[in-house]
Amino acid sequence: MPVDLLDEAQRALETTLPERGDDYRLGYHLSPPAGWMNDPNGLVYFRGEYHVFYQHHPYSPQWGPMYWGHARSADLVHWEHLPIALAPGDAYDRDGCFSGSAVVEGDTLYLIYTGHRWLGEPGNDEHGMHQVQCLASSTDGITFTKHGVVIEAAPHPDIMHFRDPKVWQCGDHWRMALGARQGDDPQLLLYRSQDLRQWECLGRALEGRRQPDGYMWECPDLFELEGRDVLLFSPQGLEPDGYERWNLFQNSYLLGRLGENACFVAETELREIDHGHDFYAAQTLLAPDGRRLLWAWMDMWQSPMPSQAHHWCGALSLPRELSRDGDRLRMRPARELTALRQSRQALAIGTLEAQSRRLEVRGALLELELELELTGSTAERFGLALRCSDDERERTLLYFDAMARRLVLDRQHSGAGVSGVRSVPIAPGQARIALRIFLDRSSIEVFVDDGAYTLSSRIYPRPDSQGVSAFAVNGRGVFGEGTAWSLADLKL
Ligand code: FRU
Repeated sequence: MPVDLLDEAQRALETTLPERGDDYRLGYHLSPPAGWMNDPNGLVYFRGEYHVFYQHHPYSPQWGPMYWGHARSADLVHWEHLPIALAPGDAYDRDGCFSGSAVVEGDTLYLIYTGHRWLGEPGNDEHGMHQVQCLASSTDGITFTKHGVVIEAAPHPDIMHFRDPKVWQCGDHWRMALGARQGDDPQLLLYRSQDLRQWECLGRALEGRRQPDGYMWECPDLFELEGRDVLLFSPQGLEPDGYERWNLFQNSYLLGRLGENACFVAETELREIDHGHDFYAAQTLLAPDGRRLLWAWMDMWQSPMPSQAHHWCGALSLPRELSRDGDRLRMRPARELTALRQSRQALAIGTLEAQSRRLEVRGALLELELELELTGSTAERFGLALRCSDDERERTLLYFDAMARRLVLDRQHSGAGVSGVRSVPIAPGQARIALRIFLDRSSIEVFVDDGAYTLSSRIYPRPDSQGVSAFAVNGRGVFGEGTAWSLADLKL
């Protein structure tokens, strides 16, 4: 590892820190100390602590040659930023240490990542790229030694996009899933190894066609969950379909079976894992207690990122516990997150008749738990206005739309840059909607009906837009009992 490159990058971060503006800075979500963040990488539990790495550009709040940022936590709530773990600069990863994963063998923590080189001018896809899979290791979990390339060539000369290795243990050997693109078609490749160094290609676990499957499947993760195999991945190039797939790219999943022949047979249709504006490149880890925990990049390529003007950008979602409910995945906030709760306030809204009411609760960092009672409600729309300015010109709306029978997250007035509406269906006959909402300075995560659906979006209200109102439009809205907590500002 060229130590001077890591030192230089670390110094660049420290020089930027005093200039960083914190108006949008998240209080309890992981974001880079300064500079740019995208995908979560190398999620792993090592020697009693959770380690999270991430795609990082320490020199500017724009994407650039990728480094691996690094943080760790003993409790999933308090995080310590560690020195940058990987820097690009060797011949094989000259232009970036792209996404990948981590495993532990004995006393050693291994990182497996994609080494990226542009063939022409940097950043220009047209001239092509060369991507290889690389290995690095550490015994202290802080400093890493690079071991170079472990997979030099894709299994077909027409594969140029070949990246994001996810490695896991399978009996007495290791397996790796990789996202790839052959011509204009996406595929999932599977490899096996005894020692993490020599890898044998088992073939294509799944193949798609440009229409309707997109052109590339980024950041695959493949794991068993309660008796079914889950393929979690981030397809590029899908078209919007009804209310679905309105983000530039969508983080999606299939449930099915990974057979002995290393083929993945899908048994469900493709579903988005989160229905907000900002959720991508999710990855999981298996916690020591058997829980499957998931983090995603809580942003989207090409979305407005106003915190760039403040010398940082990018954040990870809250850690979530994944479970399966028939053919669907469910995501709940990691149970440890209740430790964030500070002062508690009852939310006794009751019934609103075609009116709006400002609530007593205020804050930029809040958790709200509340039920919308559909039985007995006649309003066309009813719900909450969050992060409201005093004049309510700034507001983020979360409401039940009775005509569409959907729960809607509307960020058309959510502050700098962002816009758009996302929603999830509410089943006919459903009597109430249970909401658990996490607000941070520039994010909202909504867990609907105990995580049956989630909506995660970035919002950029002014720091003093902290009000909460309840409203009902044209009719009666019945609100069940609820609770609000202010949440700890950990200044992560
Ligand atoms: C996904 C992704 C990965 C790649 C990384 C580069 O967001 O495009 O496929 O490894 O970001 O930063």
